[in-house]
Amino acid sequence: MTMSTPEVTKEQATQPPVKKRTFSGIQPTGNIHLGNYLGAIRNWVETQDQYENVFCIVDLHAITLPIDPKELHENTRRLAAIYLASGLDLQHCKLFVQSHVHQHTELEWILNCFTPMGWLNRMTQFKTKAGDSIDSVSNGLYSYPVLMACDILLYQTHYVPVGDDQRQHIELTRDLAQRFNSLYNQQIFTIPQAQIRDVGARIMSLEDPTKKMSKSDPNPSAYITMLDDPKTIKKKIGRATTDSLRLVKFDNERPGITNLLGIYQSLTRASQEEIEAEFEGKGYGDFKAVLIDRLVDTLRPIQQRYNEILSDRGELERLLKQGADDVRPLAERTVQRAKEVVGLG
Ligand code: TYM
Repeated sequence: MTMSTPEVTKEQATQPPVKKRTFSGIQPTGNIHLGNYLGAIRNWVETQDQYENVFCIVDLHAITLPIDPKELHENTRRLAAIYLASGLDLQHCKLFVQSHVHQHTELEWILNCFTPMGWLNRMTQFKTKAGDSIDSVSNGLYSYPVLMACDILLYQTHYVPVGDDQRQHIELTRDLAQRFNSLYNQQIFTIPQAQIRDVGARIMSLEDPTKKMSKSDPNPSAYITMLDDPKTIKKKIGRATTDSLRLVKFDNERPGITNLLGIYQSLTRASQEEIEAEFEGKGYGDFKAVLIDRLVDTLRPIQQRYNEILSDRGELERLLKQGADDVRPLAERTVQRAKEVVGLG
């Protein structure tokens, strides 16, 4: 039996293949740190030409915990400048502020009504963030993962490039999308997949390397921000927790040095064996000096571009408005389909 090859029209042959879509976002809270850069932003930049990308500054998520209004507004612009300074290219990416596209909250209400409480009760990040104040934190903090799911699903996203801490939220997004699609027996939402790298997806605190590096850490020595100057980087790495063994080797039993080596590995892309060979016979002081130089060299050009971008606020506002205008029609199509199948309107 011979199989006939379907004919490719001239038009199809000359069209570029349709790219898969990525979506990701960062909250404009606190200081954007090395974990955010190595776990997320840098990966977005690296693969941006392979995908059709939508990147968001998730300001609606930022109000789930108390935040000063002026600080939120300013942080939102500063985070947009960090995205651009890190190398996001608007030829490949749409960049916008979440609250500028009201479809996020509109879909959230609908999906809230389809999310079993038990699923949200299992979210570990809520428990960590709520801590001892579980009865007084907002309902917004509790349903935060549903808003995150809507961010992703609105744009019919294939891949979500994030750090390791977002894994559970993306599993919930997939479960919600599958539940909704099968309930109405239609493909309303694309089922997304997390994109989590092996290296750099979980950068730990410099003070307590058993804890994740976090924007909300009250101790600024625990993290390197993307805007730290060379002197500050030197001081923070210099005092970063290690141990008394003085052996520059990856070892899960020694989380301090292993975290610093992981940062170096992520910056250099060398293998563990290559890095261990590089520092064979050397002490922590030698290794930390090389790491400091590498960090300073990585962040310096980003910081320069960041200041340039922020010096033209009018242009930044224009870009953000354009980004929201560009993504809104797709978000609206998804909301309309969801409303239709539910019977709203
Ligand atoms: P957020 O703002 O806490 O973090 C932004 C990104 O940085 C990654 N990240 C880390 N990666 C490695 N090591 C660390 N120590 C570290 N800390 C943070 C996070 O994994 C994330 O990729 N819920 C999200 C924001 C969000 C979102 C979305 C993300 C809202 N809607 C839709 C993706 C898609 C959050 O709070 O990230």
